[in-house]
Amino acid sequence: MTTTHDETLTKDTEAQDDTPVVELKTAGKSYGNIRALHGVSLAVRPGKVTCVLGDNGAGKSTLIKIVSGLHQHTEGEFLVDNTPVRFSTPRDALDKGIATVYQDLATVPLMPVWRNFFLGSEMTKGPWPVRRLDIEKMKKTADEELRNMGIVLDDLEQPIGTLSGGQRQCVAIARAVYFGARVLILDEPTAALGVKQSGVVLKYIAAARDRGLGVIFITHNPHHAYMVGDHFSVLRLGTVELSASRSEVSLEELTNHMAGGTELAALKHELAQVRGVDVEELPEAEDITAPVTASSEVSPS
Ligand SMILES: Nc1ncnc2c1ncn2[C@@H]1O[C@H](COP(=O)(O)OP(=O)(O)OP(=O)(O)O)[C@@H](O)[C@H]1O
Ligand SMILES: [Mg+2]
Repeated sequence: MTTTHDETLTKDTEAQDDTPVVELKTAGKSYGNIRALHGVSLAVRPGKVTCVLGDNGAGKSTLIKIVSGLHQHTEGEFLVDNTPVRFSTPRDALDKGIATVYQDLATVPLMPVWRNFFLGSEMTKGPWPVRRLDIEKMKKTADEELRNMGIVLDDLEQPIGTLSGGQRQCVAIARAVYFGARVLILDEPTAALGVKQSGVVLKYIAAARDRGLGVIFITHNPHHAYMVGDHFSVLRLGTVELSASRSEVSLEELTNHMAGGTELAALKHELAQVRGVDVEELPEAEDITAPVTASSEVSPS
């Protein structure tokens, strides 16, 4: 494992009494000749948010595909509750309490919110062959569960397609919590959202964490990660470039790792070839690391 914080592994021992629910040990994945992921170690603990950061193609999606049962690792170990596992389908992951909220949420836009909440796991009543959907109970439960998470929607009858992207993410989070998830994986839930809506989603990530779930939060955005994260893993070209807990890394350092100081310098040089861009006017790499949007809406605890 390549990590700039070699001491991280030993320093973290104080938190090691709570066993990880999900753990990768020098895991990797090759697609034929393409090595998408290599030597990745990562632990997800109950009530903690593990952030996975990295640029496009860094291997973030590949990593969560392994954990969520879509793909299988080709090297290293994948453990759930300290037991090596190899999932064949996402159903296997769900059975272990690992729920994934994908960015293109699997919802039916024209169906009401409550119906989407129970999609695929509808409540029924009455004996066979006259068993039918228990609509009242589903509506009541969806309403209660959303409220428990602090999500207030005016009308659960409205088609889920009429909700904002942020609200839909929140419904998906509440749904995973209700159906007993122990680990919640979120693949770039804030990528397409504005500042305010991102804040709302971050709030429910924190709510899921407070309910004791282990969260894997995939993001490009170090500011979002730092608002809720307990541990940060930065991937670059399929390997872990930085693995650090909150106390070991500042937002500035995290941003710098994401931006890639040397790559920024190269970009600056390239821009110098483009007419009309005055490189002297561009900020230095360190300046770019200053927080852009310091939202006070969400606090990490
Ligand atoms: N099914 C596949 N077959 C072959 N190569 C793949 C496959 N899926 C991913 N890759 C390669 O693996 C590498 C990592 O891809 P991955 O999708 O995990 O990155 P990512 O960090 O999620 O990127 P993004 O931020 O763009 O979503 C890339 O080089 C990609 O081309
Ligand atoms: Mg991806």
